Order: sequence, then structure tokens, then C-alpha cells
Amino acid sequence: MILEVNELTKHFGGLKAVNGVDLRVEQGSIHSIIGPNGAGKTTLFNLITGSIPPMSGTVLFDGRDITGWPPERLARGGVARTFQRTSIFMDLPVLENVALAIRSREGCSASLWQSHQHEDEAADEARGILASVGLRGREDAKAGMLAHGYQRALDIAIGLALKPRLILMDEPLAGMSRGDRETIAALITMLRETMGLTIIVVEHDVGMVMRLSDRITVMQHGTVIADAPPDEIRGNEAVRQAYLHGSFAQ
Ligand SMILES: Nc1ncnc2c1ncn2[C@@H]1O[C@H](COP(=O)(O)OP(=O)(O)O)[C@@H](O)[C@H]1O
Ligand SMILES: [Mg+2]
Repeated sequence: MILEVNELTKHFGGLKAVNGVDLRVEQGSIHSIIGPNGAGKTTLFNLITGSIPPMSGTVLFDGRDITGWPPERLARGGVARTFQRTSIFMDLPVLENVALAIRSREGCSASLWQSHQHEDEAADEARGILASVGLRGREDAKAGMLAHGYQRALDIAIGLALKPRLILMDEPLAGMSRGDRETIAALITMLRETMGLTIIVVEHDVGMVMRLSDRITVMQHGTVIADAPPDEIRGNEAVRQAYLHGSFAQ
């Protein structure tokens, strides 16, 4: 298992947002987390990626205890994430968005990065990453001018710039057209196939989740109510009930 989450807990006052969650994610898998709005999915992501510290519980990455590591340290250790809201600098060119992420990974001082050699290396690497997400030929476009689907691909490219082994994506298909959703889903599958990345996805598009995932964890009221391959999730009675009674936004 590349990721092992044990009894992870975070309450907000009396609200048990994440309450004793266990999660096992296999190396090289696409593992989705679904559940009604307010189930605790984003909070679980925030706990795993160090945006907020857990009250209790542990997170192991590759057998190493990373509980409470801040996001920058995690990123250097191989764990990246994309956000529900985008992390793109809309006024900058596409290439520069990825080059910036590469520079932040290297943690180099500004003066070092002003040297032309490093600039070139970052730009070359950024071009390679952009090609891998289908953005070849769009390097010089202003990010804000990209179509929605391409912006999401750029978001993923920014995550990949950290050279992660595990990437967590919060609603990568949200707010996209059917065609764009297919494109991003194909991209997610391709990243797993070609880079051997492990990908954890929070997603509302259950149809897509069923097709995309090797395994699905279902959350409700801060706890895990099911954890199984897609076929078993489909027939799971507790999951069906959660869907019926929860407010499942599409
Ligand atoms: N920073 C916070 N302060 C207080 N309550 C929060 C905070 N973040 C999330 N919550 C609450 O925790 C619950 C789980 O939220 P969230 O993890 O965003 O759910 P999901 O991503 O599954 O929709 C919700 O009831 C939400 O209102
Ligand atoms: Mg959420």
C-alpha cells in the first residue's frame, strides 16, 4: 500500500467532519472517494495533504509516518494535490505556470533562477509536462484564455511539476462539459498507465468514477460506509441509501 490512513479524525466544534477514517490505497491505482455533500471528502484530503492537522490518527506514505507534515514538505516527499478551485495564474502564459511550479519544487532562490541556464531547464521540463497532458502548442497562450477543459489539464500539469508519486485530485471533472470530462478522465487513466502514478480522486460524477476507478471508498457523515471495487459499490445497499437520502450534487 502506498497510502495507509488509520483512524483519522477531525471535528469542527461538535461537527464530526472526519471521524475515525481508515483508508488503504494500492500503489499505481486510481482510488476514488465519493459521498454526499458534507460527507467529509475535502476535509479528508486536507488532512492527508497537511492543509489542516488531524486531531488524532495517522497517515503513512510508503510506510513512512507523514501525519501533520505541511504541504510543501509533502510535495517534496512525493505527494501533490489539485484543488477544487484552481491554482492557475490566469494572467501568466501556460508555460510559465508550470515553470513556476518546477521552480518552487527546486526551492531555488530567486537569484539562482534568474540565471539563464536554470530558466531554460525549467522551460524544457515544463514543455514536456504540458505535452503529457495534451497542451502541446498552447505553451505561450495566456492561461486565462484557455478553454475550461484545458485549464483543468493545466491544473494537473502544475501538480505533475512537483514530480509526485501520489496525486490527490479534488473534483477534477467539476463544472465541465461532457466532452471535457471524457478528456480529463482519459488523461487521469493515461497518467496512471504511463507514469505509474497513484491517483486519489474525489468526484461527484459517479458514472465516471465507476469507469475510472480500481477501488472506491464511500463516505457519509465523516465515516467510511463502503470500500470496494466499483462492481461491488454499485450493488451496495448502504451506498444506495446514502445516495437516496443525501444531497448528491451532479
Ligand atoms: N473549516 C471548517 N470549519 C467548520 N466546518 C467545516 C470546515 N470545513 C468543513 N467543514 C464542515 O465539515 C463537513 C465536511 O465538509 P467537507 O469535507 O467539505 O465535505 P465534502 O467535501 O464531502 O462535501 C461539512 O459539514 C462542512 O460544513
Ligand atoms: Mg468537497
